[in-house]
Amino acid sequence: MKTAFVTGASAGFGKAICRQLIAEGYRVIGGARRMDKLMQLGQELGEHFIPLALDVSDKASLDKAIGQINQASLSIDVLVNNAGLALGIERAQQCDPQNWERMIATNITGLALITQRILPRMVEANSGLIINIGSIAGTYPYPGGNVYGASKAFVKQFSLNLRADLAGTRVRVSNIEPGLCSGTDFSVVRLNGNMEAVEALYKDVEAIRPEDIANTVSWIARQPEHLNINSIEIMPVAQSSAALNVVRNL
Ligand SMILES: NC(=O)c1ccc[n+]([C@@H]2O[C@H](COP(=O)([O-])OP(=O)(O)OC[C@H]3O[C@@H](n4cnc5c(N)ncnc54)[C@H](OP(=O)(O)O)[C@@H]3O)[C@@H](O)[C@H]2O)c1
Repeated sequence: MKTAFVTGASAGFGKAICRQLIAEGYRVIGGARRMDKLMQLGQELGEHFIPLALDVSDKASLDKAIGQINQASLSIDVLVNNAGLALGIERAQQCDPQNWERMIATNITGLALITQRILPRMVEANSGLIINIGSIAGTYPYPGGNVYGASKAFVKQFSLNLRADLAGTRVRVSNIEPGLCSGTDFSVVRLNGNMEAVEALYKDVEAIRPEDIANTVSWIARQPEHLNINSIEIMPVAQSSAALNVVRNL
């Protein structure tokens, strides 16, 4: 039985990815801070789902979680680096620096350290797949994207650089870059629980669904072992790039 480790399994994409991989016969370790949500998911998914308390932004928690995986002699075939968050939509000049620190600690440092802990065993086994969840925000700038977008640009470049380091091994790395997605807690977190603003964001828009991202993860994992899917950028049809901004009479 193959083992997948999905970070950020308590909600949104992560939860849908766990459901999909369990349905496909994987053993799935699902990590997140909210153990109650993970236990609930465990009740739904059964014995092949292993809930794991994990705060990727806290090195002690991360080390403990990795220690638990190693102690259980579970080697990871598929790592899905999904845990992440955006905080705020303010322009850079108005941002709360604590929000920036949390995004960097979670989306950059946490993702990098989890990868660093899992990678040596994959290389030793000469097999493994890392799927990072980036974002279109890592490619396309938008007002209020500042550190969030930059953290996803890190994920994009880190994924490519991992491939460079892994040359000569069979370990694969992919980056999924989704656009606007509904049905997750992402915007609730980003807009600090302002449900009116969340509803306004998704009003009359058919966005990506968490299941679409879970399908993409599953598709990547099913590709033949001689193929590396470098990146997949996905937007809902309702979303497209805007023209470059020009301010007159500046
Ligand atoms: N939704 C979108 O429109 C969208 C678009 C592009 C990319 N993304 C990316 O997709 C990923 C998943 O987002 P989502 O939409 O599914 O959001 P979500 O519903 O808010 O889920 C985020 C998950 O990450 C976990 N998480 C957050 N901080 C964590 C930490 N310090 N340690 C461990 N787990 C942590 C949360 O669990 P706990 O709170 O229980 O820890 C939760 O399970 C993120 O990386 C996000 O940046 C989302």
